[in-house]
Amino acid sequence: LIPRERMWAGDKHPAVCQSASQELGIPVELDYRPRIPTADLLLLCVKPADAPKALAAVREGGLRPSTLLISILAGVTTTALESMLGTDNPVVRAMPNTPAVVGEGMTVVCCGRSANETHLARARRIFEAVGKCIPVDEVHFNAVTALSGSGPAYHFLIMEALADAGVRVGLPRQLALTLVAQTALGAAKMVLTTGRHPAALRDDVTTPAGCTIGGLLMLEDGRIRSVLARAVEEAAKIAAHLGPPVPHKPAQ
Ligand SMILES: NC(=O)c1ccc[n+]([C@@H]2O[C@H](COP(=O)([O-])OP(=O)(O)OC[C@H]3O[C@@H](n4cnc5c(N)ncnc54)[C@H](OP(=O)(O)O)[C@@H]3O)[C@@H](O)[C@H]2O)c1
Repeated sequence: LIPRERMWAGDKHPAVCQSASQELGIPVELDYRPRIPTADLLLLCVKPADAPKALAAVREGGLRPSTLLISILAGVTTTALESMLGTDNPVVRAMPNTPAVVGEGMTVVCCGRSANETHLARARRIFEAVGKCIPVDEVHFNAVTALSGSGPAYHFLIMEALADAGVRVGLPRQLALTLVAQTALGAAKMVLTTGRHPAALRDDVTTPAGCTIGGLLMLEDGRIRSVLARAVEEAAKIAAHLGPPVPHKPAQ
């Protein structure tokens, strides 16, 4: 997608620069500011609270007016990014997730004030190289952050609990974990490829008076639906407060 020799990265820790450079096979530098005027795309990946400093460094480094800034920061709006950057550069906001490292990421993207369809398409190509990518209205970003951004952690917890359950009924742990992970993968693939409602797929495997309906009843007794809904609701509330306060612009 982008030749390695045209890529570079920056971090504030010499040890991170060294290990990331070895792992990625690109220069990773402590003082990346001299490179900023040469960049036509910048990917911002710091914690939300570090955004003001990082964007000030980018601006002071001499960002070209056409350089596209893509941010993966949770809770930091395009308006806040544009305000912190203080230029009219095109900005695309993205919310990826960690399965991108195995090519199965789920990313949503939206445009800031100065970004157009070409900028959005460019960002989509980047995230489609590591999974699926969908344009979504920015109003949904906190919900998306809570559902797919944080989602892998929920699924890891559920898989860990199910593997424990397998051990409880006598399976060796590694076997239990393999059964659980492959079953999750298969179930997800059925939802994505058949387009059928999960409830219909569940009905297909639920024999009258069988073991599956017995297990499902226990999950419903444990209020699994409301627990999951509350988890996503709480994460969305937190996402809404992650970004640094937007500097106030005096009225003209
Ligand atoms: N984890 C997820 O699943 C997920 C999903 C979607 C989006 N995100 C977003 O991804 C972003 C990165 O998350 P992460 O967990 O990878 O963060 P991280 O581990 O803290 O990595 C960011 C790195 O950038 C360094 N840094 C901070 N300010 C810098 C600056 N001005 N110049 C150069 N380097 C700087 C940090 O150093 P220090 O440690 O000293 O600050 C740290 O080494 C966050 O905004 C998060 O919201 C994460």
